[in-house]
Amino acid sequence: MLIAYSAWPEIDARLKTTKTVVVPIGSNEQHGPTGLLGTDWMCPEIIAHAAEKADDSLVVAPTFNIGMAQHHLAFAGTISLRPSTFMAAITDWVSSLSRHGFERIYFLNGHGGNVATIEATFSELYAEWSFVEEEPPYVLKLRNWWDLPGVNGLCNAIFPTGHGMHATPSEIAVTQAAYPDRIKSAEYSPKIAPSGPIRDALDYRARFPDGRIGSDPGQASPEKGQRIIDAAVPALLKDVAAFADEVLPGR
Ligand code: NI
Repeated sequence: MLIAYSAWPEIDARLKTTKTVVVPIGSNEQHGPTGLLGTDWMCPEIIAHAAEKADDSLVVAPTFNIGMAQHHLAFAGTISLRPSTFMAAITDWVSSLSRHGFERIYFLNGHGGNVATIEATFSELYAEWSFVEEEPPYVLKLRNWWDLPGVNGLCNAIFPTGHGMHATPSEIAVTQAAYPDRIKSAEYSPKIAPSGPIRDALDYRARFPDGRIGSDPGQASPEKGQRIIDAAVPALLKDVAAFADEVLPGR
């Protein structure tokens, strides 16, 4: 069930049997000369929506598509929240979903730069309950799509060299599988992009002139992307089921 494509009575009814919701979360940021700006929110959305198609008992929230991307702001089209804004927005998403009765909220993330801020938000949310010695009305989980069991291994097997850190061939391939009419090509120079630290936007642009870090996205293809999606979907369904069924001691 996709919340955005449902009517409220359907969600109301579903909450009688399901207390778990998946929130795809990512970023709108440059992904090199050929990668779509939406890559980091599209990948978790593509996987979550395919999983929902395979098993309608999965409840998927609208995609949280703007994240922590200050380091990409020297490239046109990038939209970023500062960490404090991102934390405030995640807090309100959790509070809204919790208010209706969702008790287990699973964030499927597509952007490494979001991880620290999402985890800090979880700690802020839990702290409110810890200080007053009460149980929070929700359990929160963060999973990067590439960390779903078996997915990272598959990506490394398909792309043994030039996978890199940003604008990776695996994430580009996943978007190519979903949006084959949006595939772009370029002459990458150098073929494998440089690597280095991530700091502010001007430093990033100086170190990584075309936006890639350590990657050769020219290896991507829709077929490879479909293999990754096909591995991620059952892994997500299993991971969410385990989260939904986890017994909480003392409750
Ligand atoms: Ni990315």
